[in-house]
Amino acid sequence: MQSIVSYKERGNFGDSKYRGNCTGYIIKDLLTHFYPTSKPKKFVEIFSGGGTGKDVAEELNITNSLHLDLNNGWDALIDEIPSGSDFIFSHPPYWDIISYESQRNSYSKNDLSNQMPYEEFIKKLNLVNEKIYHSLVYGGRHAILIGDIRKQGKYYSIIKDMDWYGDLEAHIIKVQYNCVSDNKVYSNNNFIPIKHEHLLVFKKNRVWLFSKKETNTLQINIMEVTNITWRDLIQATLEFLKNKASIDDIYNILVKSKKAQNNNHVREKIRQTLNNNSNFKKVDNEWILCIE
Ligand SMILES: C[S@@+](CC[C@H](N)C(=O)[O-])C[C@H]1O[C@@H](n2cnc3c(N)ncnc32)[C@H](O)[C@@H]1O
Repeated sequence: MQSIVSYKERGNFGDSKYRGNCTGYIIKDLLTHFYPTSKPKKFVEIFSGGGTGKDVAEELNITNSLHLDLNNGWDALIDEIPSGSDFIFSHPPYWDIISYESQRNSYSKNDLSNQMPYEEFIKKLNLVNEKIYHSLVYGGRHAILIGDIRKQGKYYSIIKDMDWYGDLEAHIIKVQYNCVSDNKVYSNNNFIPIKHEHLLVFKKNRVWLFSKKETNTLQINIMEVTNITWRDLIQATLEFLKNKASIDDIYNILVKSKKAQNNNHVREKIRQTLNNNSNFKKVDNEWILCIE
């Protein structure tokens, strides 16, 4: 197995009509990579969907495997992950892009593919991922397959937003074929289509301690930072003032910046930056942005 995988055919594993199913080859390659001469003690598949992992287990003659999904009565949010597993494969919904309620023909309030705010989806996924990690035996692995999504023009990287439990052992990019969105005609195709999914492999290397990595997105005002040049602050000020301002206008804004707090000659600094930088041009008594 290498860090980029690409399977043009999904293989004869599970129900090929189950929406959002994955190829069995990826599960087979993981199992044969980590168990080249032996078998896992217990292989558990979470979010088993249309039975892909079960067919892989059968082909590899793995008899100690469990394949769990809402569609066979098992709920990842409330039920326990079976114990004693050294290999868990999970393939959760990619937020609400496919509704599994309609595939099952029944509603479940805990379906991770229900319509919900993105933050709520991430929180629920974190709960499941942490449970999965703790259920592993020492030395065990959790391989999770999940894609990025774009919704109403906004890009969401689920792997970046979810918490990571355990030690990352591999990050594999899977080339994505045959998405329903391939046939969609977009009125605005001014974006880069997503043609890959992520497969992360986490290992449990310690019994008591575990690493948890979380992403924290902060909204920071550039007025509050010092690692910024006067040029960039003035550019922002001109952009904010609709691209025309006197030195006084610029001064009145930037004197309140954190950067100005460390400078006793703010007005002179602004004048010097305006004069020494070809990005700024004087027209009559005002300054405009002129970036070439
Ligand atoms: C991306 S699909 C998995 C597809 C599967 N790998 C296959 O090849 O068919 C995600 C699955 O998560 C299941 N699911 C969603 N919420 C769940 C929950 N709370 N507990 C268990 N399964 C859940 C859905 O029923 C769906 O089958």
